[in-house]
Amino acid sequence: MNVLLLGSGGREHALAWKLAQSPSLATLIAIPGNPGIAEHARCLDSIPLTDHDAIVTVCAAEKIDLVVVGPEAPLVDGIADRLIAEGINVFGPGRAAAQLEGSKLFTKELCRQHDIPTAAFGRFSQAEAARDFVRRRGAPIVLKADGLMAGKGVVVAMTLDEALAAVDEVFAMGDAGTEILIEEYLEGEEVSFFCLVDGETVLPFGSAQDHKRAFDGDQGPNTGGMGAYSPAPVFTAEMERRTLAEIVKPTARALADGGSPYRGVLFAGLMITLDGPKLIEYNVRFGDPECQVLLMRLEGDLLEVLHATATGTLADERVSMAPDAAITVVMAARGYPGSYEKGTPIKGVAAAGGLPGVHVFHAGTRLEGERLVANGGRVLNVTAIGANVAEARERAYDAVALIDWPQGFCRSDIAWRALAE
Ligand code: AMP
Ligand code: GLY
Repeated sequence: MNVLLLGSGGREHALAWKLAQSPSLATLIAIPGNPGIAEHARCLDSIPLTDHDAIVTVCAAEKIDLVVVGPEAPLVDGIADRLIAEGINVFGPGRAAAQLEGSKLFTKELCRQHDIPTAAFGRFSQAEAARDFVRRRGAPIVLKADGLMAGKGVVVAMTLDEALAAVDEVFAMGDAGTEILIEEYLEGEEVSFFCLVDGETVLPFGSAQDHKRAFDGDQGPNTGGMGAYSPAPVFTAEMERRTLAEIVKPTARALADGGSPYRGVLFAGLMITLDGPKLIEYNVRFGDPECQVLLMRLEGDLLEVLHATATGTLADERVSMAPDAAITVVMAARGYPGSYEKGTPIKGVAAAGGLPGVHVFHAGTRLEGERLVANGGRVLNVTAIGANVAEARERAYDAVALIDWPQGFCRSDIAWRALAE
């Protein structure tokens, strides 16, 4: 099979690394790719992911049998619909199903209609009604803006004053169509749970936990994720059974019945509460950096299961994960998630990746001649597998120590929760 992989981060490097191990892979091409992906694929780095015509042209010229979409933006933009219309198999949902990530309201309404456990919520288009609701419910309470309210997406307000201020801010910034979603605060531990869905069949693909805050002890600003580990100890077999029965399968069924079957990986962000699993949000792609730890544990042929997902034949497949633990430590540029420097040189990646059980995935790097330099906020994902979390973590941090990049930083406590359990 000839495969085209879309994306340029650590998630896509991990996908490329694993796809390259497949006995049925002929050629792997990536758009735009990165220096890590280039070890496994031919990268066409001049084509932007927004240029769907150019992507279709590459598929025809290279006789592509499967397109694997890494990030959500092209999916929300309808790349899967376009490829399917051209007769090309694609791993990733169409625009209608991608609303699970693209619109919080779409997902909340779907949960309401199908009794899927999630935080109770109200939606408001008037500031006064929103303030009344907040006063009645009290804090803690969670406020979410739909659509265009970038940067002010979610406020977890621990006090009433904070909640009222957030309401005012959203309506002050917003235009006529502004809507705010106000949610019950869920208490518990967060888990990322992944399933392959081919329209009908739902196949669990493992659990992980990530660390969203920038600094040790879960302090500092929110980031895209500073590290992750898999499996999540809190996500027992019983929790998985309940999540499949109460959340993921009813979602897949609802989308199929509504005429927009979900094909791809469905990433459920869950809160494990005293009442069981509740849905916080869906994403329509692998998590980054969760994908990196899942793929370290995956046994067998990634290409085969992604192709089966795209072609509706998942019922014949199995997914097997090693019982081992995997962790990934994100090395980021100093200053991330605020402003940071680009172009600083990185050495020691090959030595770090040479340690047993370790892979270093490139998230934001660039080659300047022979020299590897930082080219983003999250730059490297130092990933390791071991018999247990303690071993995996020791291997990952031994590898981190071999990387010579004075302008980088990482958390030193990834997987602290799993070690405490
Ligand atoms: P979201 O963008 O919906 O994933 O929300 C970002 C983060 O806010 C989540 O990862 C949770 O940590 C937190 N969060 C969102 N909704 C809730 C909720 N209803 N209760 C508690 N925490 C929440
Ligand atoms: N690591 C969280 C995400 O990919 O959304």
